[in-house]
Amino acid sequence: MKELTVKILENAPLAAGVYRMRFALPEKAEGLACGKFVNISVGDGAHLLRRPIAICEYTEDTVTICYQIKGEGTRLMSAKKAGDLLSCALPLGNGFSLEGAERVALIGGGVGVFPMYSVLKEYEGKGKKFFSFIGFRNKGAVCLADGFASLSESAEIVTDDGSFGRKANAVEAFFAGAEKAAPERILACGPLPMLRALKTGLAERGMDVPCYVSLEERMGCGIGACLVCVCKKSGKEENVRVCKDGPVFEIGEVDF
Ligand SMILES: Cc1cc2nc3c(=O)[nH]c(=O)nc-3n(C[C@H](O)[C@H](O)[C@H](O)COP(=O)(O)OP(=O)(O)OC[C@H]3O[C@@H](n4cnc5c(N)ncnc54)[C@H](O)[C@@H]3O)c2cc1C
Ligand code: FES
Repeated sequence: MKELTVKILENAPLAAGVYRMRFALPEKAEGLACGKFVNISVGDGAHLLRRPIAICEYTEDTVTICYQIKGEGTRLMSAKKAGDLLSCALPLGNGFSLEGAERVALIGGGVGVFPMYSVLKEYEGKGKKFFSFIGFRNKGAVCLADGFASLSESAEIVTDDGSFGRKANAVEAFFAGAEKAAPERILACGPLPMLRALKTGLAERGMDVPCYVSLEERMGCGIGACLVCVCKKSGKEENVRVCKDGPVFEIGEVDF
């Protein structure tokens, strides 16, 4: 992990209330990978806590993130302009592993679609087959649809209200298409009710496919020191720190 001052190259709306920011790294950062995240200081005295955001795309010297304006921190981020500097810790967390899997299902809901996109970009042209099941609130929130379509073997974009694609959520879309996709690995990120529905649905169907979820827990330090992000290990009197031990966990590993 490095603490870097990065320079914003672009920061523009991507969908309703969602921005895409690309920034330049002042030096090479080791270990950038899909499923990891950055912790951005919004650079305002009143907002000292950093904001964790998934890496959506990266090159050797740039990182792209996509973020939804939720509260004060992300609102301040959206006001930043090209040329502005930000303090940023990166890369953080463990990330996704696809070792041993050729057919991979990606299930993303809301802002959870961005780490899924990072997987597609990282494995672009590397021979794996991706089946994407991506859900948004409504048509206005839909983004990266063309990217998901072109980088996946098949991609289904659904919305809660049916204003774009089918009326369904990402987990419903996945279970409808799971037989055809026949995944050897499932990766998912989204709101907790979505991840719970995935866990229950897999158990009910007796689907024994390795499944990893990325938890977007509230965070403070992002480096394992403050314990704000602690979750309990399933069936054990042990805790994990989502920022340091995760954010990616096997679906049965942690209570959520
Ligand atoms: C590993 C990880 C990856 C994430 N990736 C993305 C992403 O790619 N795009 C995106 O839009 N959002 C992402 N989030 C959620 C994002 O961090 C929050 O929406 C953001 O911190 C809200 O900050 P705020 O000041 O605007 O909102 P406020 O509600 O004012 O935030 C108050 C405090 O709560 C924390 N907080 C609030 N909501 C969340 C949340 N859902 N998760 C974690 N902390 C939260 C904030 O960090 C802050 O400390 C991610 C979260 C985590 C943990
Ligand atoms: S955010 Fe501080 S320990 Fe995880």
